[in-house]
Amino acid sequence: VSSSAVACVLVAAGRGERLGDELPKTFVEVGGRPLVWHALRALARSTRVAVVAVVVPAGYEDKAGELVRDAGEGMSAVVVAGGATRQESVALGLAALPVGTDIVLVHDAARCLAPPDLFDAVAADVADQHDAVTPGLAVVDTLKQVDGSGRVIATPDRSALRAVQTPQGFRHDVLARAHAAAAERGDHDAPDDASLVERLGLPVHVVDGRPEAFKITRPHDLVLAEAVLARRGSDNPTGARRRS
Ligand code: CTP
Ligand code: MG
Repeated sequence: VSSSAVACVLVAAGRGERLGDELPKTFVEVGGRPLVWHALRALARSTRVAVVAVVVPAGYEDKAGELVRDAGEGMSAVVVAGGATRQESVALGLAALPVGTDIVLVHDAARCLAPPDLFDAVAADVADQHDAVTPGLAVVDTLKQVDGSGRVIATPDRSALRAVQTPQGFRHDVLARAHAAAAERGDHDAPDDASLVERLGLPVHVVDGRPEAFKITRPHDLVLAEAVLARRGSDNPTGARRRS
């Protein structure tokens, strides 16, 4: 089982409009290193991931190659330019993976502090039992469904809801089929990869997510990321450190 070839598509090609920096979000720094560097470092420290397709905005390929060399600890990686939507960026990354990939993880570089053992746990769950796996956390806020004017329509039962994260893991053939079917339907803007598998009518399994796999979306999230890195300190599982 553990001999399955595991690859990861690391999507880093978004603009980061909600963060509002001039740089693409994944090239903004925390702890003195770009978000995508932290994500690459965690992937390099995963024991199961053998190869990574890094998907970056057009024009950032060379910079990404440098980050792979610096963070990758000899990791095998290919860098490709992304698309207009996250879904298209994932598809471009999938197309760049080597033939013979059995299991593929898809990860948001914006979740740059997701720990190495989360990649391993998701890959193991795909290898051992499930075709499609996503980490998820219980929802802490009460959620309201609203209409266009802000009027509350419903209060869904929170106990049945999960806030899902990445890395999501799939049998490669299942994810490839899910993306092909979406393209055929004319869908290009899926919120995540698991939802494309759901559309095939196939089961998706939720495993325990990790608070540190939160997504850097708005400026406040950078404050949180700095705090997480500071707490990791010198005994630091992703090797992130401040430049002096
Ligand atoms: N992503 C991508 N290609 C796109 C859009 C998003 O590779 N066309 C990636 C982002 O770089 C990020 C992940 O998908 O790592 C999750 O997307 P999100 O957090 O929404 O990032 P952005 O799209 O960059 O941010 P925003 O929506 O605020 O513009
Ligand atoms: Mg986005």
